[in-house]
Amino acid sequence: MLEATKLADEELYHIVAGELKRQENNIEMIASESTAPIEALELSGSVFTNKTLEGYPGARFQSGAGFADQMEILGVERCKALYQAEHANIQPISGSTANYSVYAAILKPGDTVLAMRLDQGGHLTHGSPASTTSKFYNFVSYGVHKDTEQINYEELEALAIEHKPKLIVSGGSSYPRLIDYERIGNIAKSVGAYSMADIAHVSGLVAAGIIPSPVPCTDFVSSSTTKTLCGPRGGMVLCKAEHAKALDRGVFPRTIGSMHLQVMAAKTFVLKRAATEEFKQTMIQTVKNAQHLATCLEKHGFRIVSGGTDNHLVMVDLRPKGITGKDFQDALDYVGITVNKNMIPFDTEKPSITSGVRIGTTAISQRGLKENEVKQIADIMNRVAQNIHNVEVLEACKIEAIELISKFPLYKEKFDVVSI
Ligand SMILES: Cc1ncc(COP(=O)(O)O)c(C=O)c1O
Repeated sequence: MLEATKLADEELYHIVAGELKRQENNIEMIASESTAPIEALELSGSVFTNKTLEGYPGARFQSGAGFADQMEILGVERCKALYQAEHANIQPISGSTANYSVYAAILKPGDTVLAMRLDQGGHLTHGSPASTTSKFYNFVSYGVHKDTEQINYEELEALAIEHKPKLIVSGGSSYPRLIDYERIGNIAKSVGAYSMADIAHVSGLVAAGIIPSPVPCTDFVSSSTTKTLCGPRGGMVLCKAEHAKALDRGVFPRTIGSMHLQVMAAKTFVLKRAATEEFKQTMIQTVKNAQHLATCLEKHGFRIVSGGTDNHLVMVDLRPKGITGKDFQDALDYVGITVNKNMIPFDTEKPSITSGVRIGTTAISQRGLKENEVKQIADIMNRVAQNIHNVEVLEACKIEAIELISKFPLYKEKFDVVSI
């Protein structure tokens, strides 16, 4: 891979090769990350890049669509089968545009939407003041209970009754617990609202059948394809048959123009792979690793938000250690462990500082790390937290981290961009 680039643009080649080395040598624990398979990398660079196409199979705006039609039909069928969905649209180019397309399908500017607050687990596209979604629609936010740090369904219901939203959104980017989609779906129905579950983070776990699926009880289910689904950077939306037309219009022409066929090819591949036993076992180990990480960190005196995790991510409150999320993120980065600072519920720090970090276990589980290695990582994290400015200790941690991860190759296949 990249032989042609190496000849034509050595400077750029070395940047990509450097990124590969970084990923190989680091313990990647950003919860929204995973490792796309070689096939997905190949397909997202395939000749479908050259094809401009708008519309849907059988109703295209350009000619020459025969093979693209075959691919989109295959991808959609795989997606529907994987999630047992009545309808799927795999054109959205990201998780964010997947969400915009649902909004565009059913909302008018100014409509009210109920969604989880960003600083308590939601996502920017769920109406954060920093997102353009909050300019178009009237977002009202629900949050979590202060004591359990789990969704406050009573507040959600009360807000739904008070504000009569057109749409209720569930799901988020830093919520470590299962979501009661049925309860939210019923609340939505009771106030005449649509329901949408954003499963961007957990779509791989749902595909593997190891956490409950929102598909049976939710009108729209949106996702990105790059997080636990372990695919290319893209999006998709599932919905009930009755909303199929509206959703397809919401995607094209309302939120995208020509689709990224090369990425659709990669999505189509991972939608097949996600139905395998091997993928299921990876997802099972991902959750086991996250739960073990939470247990080990707790033993070291970190506070785990909500007391644990049911999915692939752990939210860690660093206040008992007297450090901020930014300090910890930077120190871990120095030793070769990649995480991100993250607001925790009711955080008093700024988003650029934070009291917490979010840690995910998808990528390390794909590489084959299990509970023993997770304990080692937790031990390193603890030493880093206690010696945040001690370069000698950090250097020792760095050596330990690279020794640990080098036993688990990022790609088991031969990957020639390595040979720099
Ligand atoms: C819950 C949720 N929805 C949507 C997105 C947006 O996905 P993307 O980055 O693919 O636009 C994210 C990304 O982190 C997310 O966590």
